[in-house]
Amino acid sequence: MPLPLVKAIVFDAYGTLLDIRTIDQLLRELFGEKAGNIAAVWRQKQLEYTWLRTLMGRYKNFEAVTRDGLVFACKVAQAELTDAHILQLMEAYDRLLVYEDVRPALDRLKNKYRLAVLSNANPRMLESALAYNEVAEKMELILSADEAKLFKPRPEVYQLAVQKLNLSPEEILFISSNTWDVAGAKSFGLKVAWANRFDGYIEELGFEPDLIIENLEALAGKLDG
Ligand code: 2OP
Repeated sequence: MPLPLVKAIVFDAYGTLLDIRTIDQLLRELFGEKAGNIAAVWRQKQLEYTWLRTLMGRYKNFEAVTRDGLVFACKVAQAELTDAHILQLMEAYDRLLVYEDVRPALDRLKNKYRLAVLSNANPRMLESALAYNEVAEKMELILSADEAKLFKPRPEVYQLAVQKLNLSPEEILFISSNTWDVAGAKSFGLKVAWANRFDGYIEELGFEPDLIIENLEALAGKLDG
C-alpha cells in the first residue's frame, strides 16, 4: 500500500461520485439540439461563479450558483428557459446518479478507512443526491463548503476535513476527478488521488497528485494491494 499514514478517504462529489451527465437526457428533451452546448456552458459557469463569488467576497450557495449558471447557459444558447424548466432541472440535480464504480469501491474501502465527502454543494443539495443513491449512509461525515461560506479551492474549505475528522492533512487522502480541486487540495497539504475519469490533463499550477487512478474501483484495488 503506497500511502501508509492515510486514515480517512475524503471524496469530492460532482464529477467524482455523482455523474453530472445524468441530466443530459432531460436537457435534450427540453432544448433539443442546443442541449450539448447548454450542458457544457452550464457546468463551466457553475464552477466559474463559485470561484468568482469567492474572489469577490459575495458568497451564494451552490444551489443558487448552479441556477445562475443555467440561466447564463440558456441565454448564450438563445434557448427559452421557463420557471418550470428551472424547477425540473434543479430537481434532476437532486437525483444525479453515482458512477457505477462508486458503491462497490466504497464498500471495499469502508472496511479499512474512515470515509467522508467534502463538496462545494450546500448540505440540502448534496445530501439529497447522496441519499438518493444510498451512498450517504456509507459516509461518516458529509462536509460542505457552505459552513465556511467560501468555495474550494480556498484552503479554509479543505481545512474543514482536517478539523472535523480530527486528523492531520497527511492522514487524509482526498479524491477528486476535478483537476482544479486536485491542485487545491494538494496545495493545502492533503494527500491527493486524481480520478482521471475524463482522460484529462494535470493543471499547470505546480501541484501534482500523489496517485492517479481511472476510477474508484482502481483506487480500492491500489489501496488494498
Ligand atoms: C464539488 O462537489 C463542485 O465537484 C465539486 O465540490
